[in-house]
Amino acid sequence: MAFRAARGMRDILPGDIPAWERLESVARTLARLHGCREIRPPLLEETELFIRSVGEVTDIVEKEMFTLQKGSLTLRPEGTAGIARAYLQAGFARQAPVQKLFTIGPMFRYERPQKGRERQFTQFDVECLGSLDPRLDAEVIHLAASFFEELGIERARSGGLELRLNSMGEGADRERYREAVRAWLAPDMARRCELCRARFERNVLRVLDCKNEDCRRLNAGAPRIFDILSPENRAHFELVRQHLADIGRDSIVDPGIVRGLDYYTRTVFELHFPALGARSALCGGGRYDHLLRDLGGPDLGAVGFAIGFTGTLLALEELGLLASLEPEPAQVYVAAADPGCARVVFELATELRRAGISAVYDSEERSLKSQMKAAGAGGHPVAVIVGPDELAQGVVQVRRMDKGEQSPVRREDMARSVAELLARDKPSASLA
Ligand code: HAM
Repeated sequence: MAFRAARGMRDILPGDIPAWERLESVARTLARLHGCREIRPPLLEETELFIRSVGEVTDIVEKEMFTLQKGSLTLRPEGTAGIARAYLQAGFARQAPVQKLFTIGPMFRYERPQKGRERQFTQFDVECLGSLDPRLDAEVIHLAASFFEELGIERARSGGLELRLNSMGEGADRERYREAVRAWLAPDMARRCELCRARFERNVLRVLDCKNEDCRRLNAGAPRIFDILSPENRAHFELVRQHLADIGRDSIVDPGIVRGLDYYTRTVFELHFPALGARSALCGGGRYDHLLRDLGGPDLGAVGFAIGFTGTLLALEELGLLASLEPEPAQVYVAAADPGCARVVFELATELRRAGISAVYDSEERSLKSQMKAAGAGGHPVAVIVGPDELAQGVVQVRRMDKGEQSPVRREDMARSVAELLARDKPSASLA
């Protein structure tokens, strides 16, 4: 075959769709349960927006952005920057500063494709903008964890998901921390990779999330911002933990969670599914209390997260939870007992669809036997069969595929009779 999907990008095929629809529907239902409203910003933003938000000296901006040659535009590598920009542009900061927003859609990063990492991937992104309330930190963490629980990926206690929490401090904490890290790194910078040496000068904290194995080992003993938090920021962190405990959610304090994006302040967290190994983070998030200010708006707090669908689907697969999600077949297979009935088959399928019943028919001029085989293999609950005799009598044969029972029905009653048959087979309306 001449063309293949671009490296790190893939087709989501019809057989994959039920799982995707389930993820999207759980995401939407939970977001709305928490009062979040959907927002759909464009996929392209000005490159400068990501430099300003994510940070110039970060993996994303230095190595992973798909930047177009036309118009200094970049395919969004993440959702937070675009949502913050849209929030300011829509005037929310002035009119109704507290906004709980969510989006589901593709993000693009030019990373080395590997298991769990793609160049186009989908995120469920939730952002609560306009408030410093620590209950919102706990709320978004709970929302993110609930997403996985709803899908059957259980809490850490039962060997599933782990919530790792840290604080990045802000303001003076960050300055003191930068100094502490610089002093700690300085004596053995020569042993570090080239990228780290450049970052030491330009953005010293990013040395701590270098992916190089040797650097990672050296970083194990780095100073921890957690130990030098101001009383105010420590109190915020303790409140978040308290609110989480109040709703029965355990968290592991992990000073190693530093996140790879510059906008974070105070609370940061990740949800891990340890069975996935090195790429176990299914979700990352935290506060970014000065991003709106840095983008030219007022200095309002914000907190959010993004869940990656790639990792979520891998976790579901690992737990054997994907097999139960099958595509729904069309409800009716319309079969022609004779090639002369092709026209009426098309009319019948259209009549059924007008009545809200999904219907398909054969377009390969196969024998009735082959058509009935296809109807069975396709899992269609009902077949409608028409031949010259039926045409002459103004009827069609309606067949229940599971029982093999078949009876003639007047053509004008076809849709009603099929609908009754389908309704009878449904377990119950509430489960449908
Ligand atoms: P992030 O940690 O860069 O945070 O991404 C969040 C999640 O997206 C990761 O935990 C991972 O599951 C998934 N992900 C990231 N890159 C890839 C990739 N190349 N292939 C597949 N999945 C990937 C953010 O994006 C922040 N905007 C989160 C946030 C929202 N913070 C505050 N609000």
